[in-house]
Amino acid sequence: MDAFPRMTPEEAAELIHDGDLVAFSGFTPAGAPKAVPGAVAERASQLHTLGQPFQIRVLTGASTGRTVDDVLAEADAISWRAPYQSSRPLRERVNDGRVSFVDMHISHLPQSVMFGFLGKIDVAVVEAAEVTSDGRVYLTTSIGASPTFLHAADKVIIEVNRQQSRQISEMADIMIPKPPPYRPAVDLDHPLQRIGKTYVRIDPEKIVAVVETDICDQLGEFTPPDAASQAIAAHVVAFLHEELATGRVPRNFLPLQSGVGNVSNAVMHGIGASPDIPDFFMYSEVLQSSAFELLRSGRLRGASTCALTLSPAHMDELVEQIDFYAPRLVLRPQEISNNPAVIRQLGVIAMNTALEVDIYGHVNSTHVCGRSMFNGIGGSGDFARNAYLSIFVCPSIAKRGKISTIVPMCTHVDHNEHSVEVVVTEHGLADLRGLAPRQRAQRIIECCAHPVYRDYLTAYLCDSGLGHIRHDLQRCFELHRNLEECGSMLPDAAPELFTPGRIDQPTVSLPEGCFHGANAMPADAD
Ligand code: COA
Repeated sequence: MDAFPRMTPEEAAELIHDGDLVAFSGFTPAGAPKAVPGAVAERASQLHTLGQPFQIRVLTGASTGRTVDDVLAEADAISWRAPYQSSRPLRERVNDGRVSFVDMHISHLPQSVMFGFLGKIDVAVVEAAEVTSDGRVYLTTSIGASPTFLHAADKVIIEVNRQQSRQISEMADIMIPKPPPYRPAVDLDHPLQRIGKTYVRIDPEKIVAVVETDICDQLGEFTPPDAASQAIAAHVVAFLHEELATGRVPRNFLPLQSGVGNVSNAVMHGIGASPDIPDFFMYSEVLQSSAFELLRSGRLRGASTCALTLSPAHMDELVEQIDFYAPRLVLRPQEISNNPAVIRQLGVIAMNTALEVDIYGHVNSTHVCGRSMFNGIGGSGDFARNAYLSIFVCPSIAKRGKISTIVPMCTHVDHNEHSVEVVVTEHGLADLRGLAPRQRAQRIIECCAHPVYRDYLTAYLCDSGLGHIRHDLQRCFELHRNLEECGSMLPDAAPELFTPGRIDQPTVSLPEGCFHGANAMPADAD
């Protein structure tokens, strides 16, 4: 490490210039740099006060949290951002047009960088547990796209974080696939198989600064599972149990992927608690706290992940009991953790969260009312499109019932009907496999919609004329228009109908003559 210039964060920030494309490590707050981005933000604010421009274009593996996205956004230091974010101040600027945001599949990012689709990376700022004089960089709690950033950048700034355990970096399994058209298949037939190295080796000449830090990953808290999340988890567990019983899922089970957010966390918790599901592996892009607890209990036999998104207490436990955890965890770059071929090969069961689902099974994971970016597509598309089974979960209502998450037509589509096999809300689970569009619609309304919205959705389906997929182009966004104009999708529905925690059984009353039975076609179907 003495081979490289040691700098303060402020000195290192001087190496970054207005207009630069800067790639930061980090996949969730795990492994994100802690000091240099803050110093860049400080510098931006000072220059702005002097009337001088200073904005950078920012790449990361995925989201980063407070130490990168929040501080840089609050300083108005970001002009362009890809591939994912989950930061409130950044989201505001994306949605009011101050920041250009490119929402990308996580697995696509490294190759897009390598082939220059996004421009040349001027500077990579990467957190490491150690850097050696011959250019070996040992990463910390996430791998993400850091190996690619380190190779592609002109200049590299390393933040050596003394708080991060060097033993964690031994869990890394880093390989960058060769470029097409001579790219061999990724040789992975088990989630824990190792195919790479524990470090990234780069030209040491590129390392222009080393900054020392000792700040742990800044993780947000999850809310404890509420009644709706617990009910969703129970439906998923019952479904997986049934799949095992019928042999549609093999008896020794399949690796699970779990998406980000509170609902996914609750679903993992529920799966772990169920005696009906055998001990299992995960092949996922993030390991959240609920999965860590399952690892500890032995329910989770091991996990391949791109990031350890763990609370400080769980991180401490991981390091203290490294001999137990190290053989059970593999940390991979995002083009391997989210690799479509590997996901298909391993037969991953993917469970991701939707903002809204339409009656035909299209999913919007990103844009509220089709306009305002929430987080981004992240890895949900990588997994949903290539999974053995693709499950989407969400509560049936949001904002205390003012919003139905089951709508006639999604205002934005991230995952189309072809990649969505199962939809789950607290009211039930719609297994869409083998169903034609109108059957899907009926199943989703019956099983997943909140009872208060079922009649509206059923009437919409019945009144929407002919066609393979039936839509009334005058009314398909009527619920969204109501929301914007009246503050509620069904302005006349009484608020007490949406009592928090109330979960009614699916007791849909279908208009007479519209459907013949639970899974039958509409009466006028061909
Ligand atoms: N319209 C408007 N707002 C909605 C909504 C809808 N249809 N559905 C949910 N919301 C709001 C909720 O009210 C909540 O708002 P708040 O932050 O003001 O409380 C917020 O969206 C989050 O909802 P919540 O139910 O807590 O969901 P979550 O924490 O489980 O996150 C996603 C859900 C979809 C935002 C999240 O999973 C995500 O970003 N997914 C895309 C990326 C992804 O799936 N990556 C995984 C790959 S491994």
